[in-house]
Amino acid sequence: MCINRRRGVASEHETYRTYSLHGMNADTMPNAWDIRETDLSPLADDAIKLRFALRYAALAPSNHNAQPWRFLVDGTTVLVCADRNRALSVVDPYDRELIMGCGAALFNLRVALQRFGLGYTIKLFPDPDDPDVLARVRVDRGSPRDTSIATLFDVMTRRVTNRSAFAPTPVPEDIQDALVQAALAEGVDAVSIGRTDIRDRVAELVTQADHLQLRDVRFRRELASWIYTGTHGDGMPAYAGSVGGLLDFTVPIMAAAIRTFAMDDGIAASHQRLLDHSPMLLCIGTGEDSPFAWLACGQALERVLLTATKFELSASFLNQPIEVEQLRSVLRREIAMEALPQVLLRIGRAPSVMHTPRRAMQEVVVE
Ligand SMILES: Cc1cc2nc3c(=O)[nH]c(=O)nc-3n(C[C@H](O)[C@H](O)[C@H](O)COP(=O)(O)O)c2cc1C
Repeated sequence: MCINRRRGVASEHETYRTYSLHGMNADTMPNAWDIRETDLSPLADDAIKLRFALRYAALAPSNHNAQPWRFLVDGTTVLVCADRNRALSVVDPYDRELIMGCGAALFNLRVALQRFGLGYTIKLFPDPDDPDVLARVRVDRGSPRDTSIATLFDVMTRRVTNRSAFAPTPVPEDIQDALVQAALAEGVDAVSIGRTDIRDRVAELVTQADHLQLRDVRFRRELASWIYTGTHGDGMPAYAGSVGGLLDFTVPIMAAAIRTFAMDDGIAASHQRLLDHSPMLLCIGTGEDSPFAWLACGQALERVLLTATKFELSASFLNQPIEVEQLRSVLRREIAMEALPQVLLRIGRAPSVMHTPRRAMQEVVVE
């Protein structure tokens, strides 16, 4: 197995114990988002550039901000691995979203490598005996650079999941097309859900899925275990993504409260309202459910999110009807999507929100 560390061991969180909610100590806990390309020496060799590029990979989104990845580096080659000790066994029992998060990290890595002037070759699932090794990325100066993703580098440090109510301003059609195209470019399918009656139906499904998930004590307990009131290198701090208006992930509710109370009614009602403030709904899907498809979908997801950021748009997730197995096929039918739905995004304009933290690089990079 590629991975062997467990989440939550004392040493992992010990590092962060001394930080208060607002008082992150920048001297000892560097902000992962504060990366400057100029920190990379012009004399850096390819191996150093690769390590620097991994700092961008680690900025990828992941469900519950679990950051379920590990990067095994050897010279100018890196294995992108799934860290299944960070799996979310209740909400994501088959590691579907876990692999999508790793796919998003892989996409960021591609964007950074191309920016640093490096071609690369990627072999997906290179080790038939180890399903945790999702991709082997080799810096290869002979390979052509992928210029189609060049403009996404500058927005990687600006992307953030924003759960606020979005302004009702419609997303222009050409931008909607660009977002769909961003997904298609990664070999997956995507549909923009425009019709009012279908949007209403999707809202109902989100509400229904919320009820089902939040009624499940195991779901609430798992979610609660990733919400913090202090600072950690992972999970969702209570400030994440506009706490006051955060309706699609229950972060305003303290972890203890989630363990004790079923909050489903309030949350579900908020969702309906939230859809009214979601000018664009985009569903990304794949032809099959397989680790290969999830990895492609994760790359597509990040490409869409970065493209949205480039257009000054915000995005967040309404994945509940996909996570609840029995509603997934209903969603697929309602939106007339041939592919299997994998992610449901809401996209629009909103004031910016704070970033969630990232683990220290020495925790995710293994040399
Ligand atoms: C595959 C996947 C599924 C996600 N599902 C949800 C979701 O259902 N609800 C939600 O609010 N956020 C969801 N998120 C967003 C994560 O919570 C978010 O990426 C994480 O907290 C890190 O924050 P950031 O995206 O601002 O960097 C998902 C992210 C990924 C990659």
